[in-house]
Amino acid sequence: MRLTGKVAVVTGAASGIGRGTALRCAEEGADVAIADIEEAGLRETAQQVGALGHRVLPEIVDVRERAQVERLVERTCAELGGLDIMVANAGVGTGALFLNTTDEQYDRLMDTNLRGVYLCGQAAARAMVARGTGGAIINIASTYAEVTAPQSSVYAASKGGVRMLTKGMALELGAHGIRVNCIGPGWIRTGMNPLTDEARVARIVDGVPLGRIGTPHDVAGAALFLASDDAAYITGVIIFVDGGWILQ
Ligand code: NAI
Repeated sequence: MRLTGKVAVVTGAASGIGRGTALRCAEEGADVAIADIEEAGLRETAQQVGALGHRVLPEIVDVRERAQVERLVERTCAELGGLDIMVANAGVGTGALFLNTTDEQYDRLMDTNLRGVYLCGQAAARAMVARGTGGAIINIASTYAEVTAPQSSVYAASKGGVRMLTKGMALELGAHGIRVNCIGPGWIRTGMNPLTDEARVARIVDGVPLGRIGTPHDVAGAALFLASDDAAYITGVIIFVDGGWILQ
């Protein structure tokens, strides 16, 4: 088990990639604090993680709110005995044509996807520095940190921001033994991206060299690698988990 004795925090853990990552962390031996704004889904994830025999700390957290994020980190350290891994995954999608984008849409995307990653990373890094034992921070970006599409200008800007924030964090936190990396998922079937229209799915899959839509499990595998000592000399990178979609 690659994460035995470690404590992980996963945000956006009420569904999709966050739930999948929390479960894989627990499967690999970690105790897990899970955070989300969505209570019912969080409870469900807590049951699934708890069933794997590890400690689980569910906390309702809006990642846009500094006080809530800091409380999450404080509770994790106090109740689970430390914090070794932060997976800053909570995010929102949806977009509009640039000409029609409202300030409310802009604020929701940037505050959740970029400010949320900043707040979670800063709170986690401060706790890791105080403890002096290093750690791993994994930020969930997107293939849209590299390319974009219509109706995605602000979403892609938020994810491009996550990628650059990751590099800056890696640069400054390396001296404290903290590695910071990000993941760029491609087309992953989740609550955000249910992909129910079969004709659309066929068109998407046509552009994926590995020939299928991805799963939360696929993304969680990369998060697990980056969190583990197998990635001990890797910091500041983005790993695309997209079946090769970005290649064309
Ligand atoms: P999802 O919608 O299943 O999960 C996102 C979770 O974040 C939800 O449980 C939601 O309640 C939570 N959340 C939203 N706003 C929050 C806030 N302010 N505070 C706390 N929690 C909040 O979606 P999915 O696909 O699992 O998304 C996870 C991450 O992966 C996101 O950052 C998303 O941008 C990214 N991603 C997803 C892709 C996909 O195809 N599904 C592709 C590329 C990136």
